[in-house]
Amino acid sequence: MHKLRGVRKLKTDPVLLTQQKISMKKIIVTPLKHIRGTIEIPPDKSISHRAVMLASISNGTTRIKNFLKAQDCLQTVNAFKAMGVEINEKAKSSVACDLEIIGKGLRGLEKPKQKLFLGNSGTTMRLLSGILTGQNFETSLSGDESLSNRPMKRIVEPLCMMGAKISGKSSNSEIYPPLVIDGAKLTPIDYRTKVASAQVKSCILLAGLYADGITTVAEPFKSRDHTEKMLDTFGAEVNIEGLSVSVAGNPKLNSHDLLIPSDISSAAFFLVASLLVPNSSLTIKAVGINPTRSGALEILKRMGAKIELRNEKDEFEPIADLYVDSSPLKAITIERDLIPQVIDELPVIMVAATQAEGTTQIKGASELRVKETDRISSMSAGLGKMGADIRFKADTIFIKGPTKLKGAKVSSFKDHRTAMSLAIAGLCAEGETVIEDTECILTSFSNFEEILKSL
Ligand code: S3P
Repeated sequence: MHKLRGVRKLKTDPVLLTQQKISMKKIIVTPLKHIRGTIEIPPDKSISHRAVMLASISNGTTRIKNFLKAQDCLQTVNAFKAMGVEINEKAKSSVACDLEIIGKGLRGLEKPKQKLFLGNSGTTMRLLSGILTGQNFETSLSGDESLSNRPMKRIVEPLCMMGAKISGKSSNSEIYPPLVIDGAKLTPIDYRTKVASAQVKSCILLAGLYADGITTVAEPFKSRDHTEKMLDTFGAEVNIEGLSVSVAGNPKLNSHDLLIPSDISSAAFFLVASLLVPNSSLTIKAVGINPTRSGALEILKRMGAKIELRNEKDEFEPIADLYVDSSPLKAITIERDLIPQVIDELPVIMVAATQAEGTTQIKGASELRVKETDRISSMSAGLGKMGADIRFKADTIFIKGPTKLKGAKVSSFKDHRTAMSLAIAGLCAEGETVIEDTECILTSFSNFEEILKSL
């Protein structure tokens, strides 16, 4: 347990220590006077997953620089190692490493000896399912309690239309893990997704690599495009027209060295922290600013945030240093078409909204209900306990600000982004905020506390 700012270590309770692995860690936050300096944020989670997947099914050796060494991405690494892929790690820091992956080609994966356990990682399960449907063996995929409750019908339905044989746990007309996927001969589909989800889109495109012909996915709004960008980089034939993406089956994928930028979703916590804590000025180095991911920058700027992008570069994904100064914020309306581009940053945007003048509306936010936890409930429970004025009606969230938040004992609901967002809320609350069950932060941002302390 740590107290941030003063970094007070509490008396260690031997029972707590032994139970840490089952999520008993707490973070205690007190307000900061200001935030100054330059920080580096861990590598991008979405791009790290995709890099391992495509490198593993391509021909040749891929070197990945700055891979995210967090629990979720390591689930992907372990899954491919279990399917016979040689992956060598060169240590770099506690949060990042370089990987060398000897690709097995599109059809070179081997049947894993055991069922694949994927922990908390929805991205691993959904994207990997696309690849597994095209194999000539059967695989079982399972996850922790949270992953076991995440909806999979959104991928099972299109994959079955392609000829896949998948069984899962059916309940209330939904399908949940564990999934058993029996590889099959796939036919291409032209599919319109009901939700704008990069995981669903990517799953179908990856399955499309194993189908004879062109597979097309159209989505209602644009979601992150890392998969299509990376498929193109590895030599697949990808065609993008508006909200439709097509991929040609049976490509020869060739290895390609990659440099992974810092994760804008992780940077968002410190962007919002610097905006809300008075007299702050922070630089965040080399953050990925892919336009399909940087909705948070657009939203915060519209709220009045002083954020500047410098040193913009294009290293297969666009990158920039972010400069942020504390700023008075005003409420805005976030329309539903922008939601997929800010989906993971919404919890911390909700924190920003509590400090903005007026009523912020976030429309079309219902996908937040099916993340690692129901993030509408978890954030309203936490922020509500801290005194925020937060309501929802249908799929719109209303947050009236500014509210002087009060420190409270709040729960992460075992969700990493809820935990970190509430820690940021604690930085501008009166008194002490205790966030319980923060072990989950390790899934994406293992040095979150360390960075916070360094500020
Ligand atoms: C991700 C897509 C998003 C996001 C998740 C990562 C990805 O999920 O919330 O954290 O890497 O494709 P959905 O596709 O379910 O919106």
